[in-house]
Amino acid sequence: MKSRYSRIFGLLFLAAFGGVSIATSIPARTVEAESNSPAASEESSAAFVFQDEFEPVDNMHHFMEYVYEPVYKELKESLKLEPADKKAWAKVKSGSMILAEASSLLAKRPSEKADGKKWSEFSAIVNLNGAKLFHAARAKDYGKAQSLFKEMSTGCAKCHEAYKK
Ligand code: HEC
Repeated sequence: MKSRYSRIFGLLFLAAFGGVSIATSIPARTVEAESNSPAASEESSAAFVFQDEFEPVDNMHHFMEYVYEPVYKELKESLKLEPADKKAWAKVKSGSMILAEASSLLAKRPSEKADGKKWSEFSAIVNLNGAKLFHAARAKDYGKAQSLFKEMSTGCAKCHEAYKK
């Protein structure tokens, strides 16, 4: 008797529980469907566009002072003598890559008085030679690395000559 009652009770419980879960799954599905509606996806793509518009952290002076200058100095130091081991070459790889990559960012931020084309050209000198320097460091070619460092530095000098106050 007892077990029969409990079986019936169990079935009732299951039915009730199942009913509740079906009932709750209906609004859940509606919410899901709503979030796939065109309006909702428009909203999320709008959020992406916003994310795409990166703002400079601060002015050009600080960009140079805190990104270019310390990395450049360290790189120069790393190339004074032939890098002795993997760790020393890794420093050259790091510095050259940072300067090369930062220069594609630099190219997009011409100063107000800059004629865009020249500004991009000077940025490209740092970008291209910085990239070559990175690859020379991967090949542990000290001679090539030294001349590419000089070549890269002409980009800094040319831009400063033209635009630095
Ligand atoms: C495309 C142009 C451009 C390139 C390339 C460039 N700079 Fe600059 N740099 C500027 C401008 C413009 C300023 C002046 C910013 C200001 O003071 O408003 C400046 C200023 C500086 C300063 C002075 C900041 C201070 O603290 O007084 C340093 C240092 C510097 N750059 C280092 C470098 C180095 C190193 C490189 C190359 C690896 C380089 N820059 C490449 C445009 C450039």
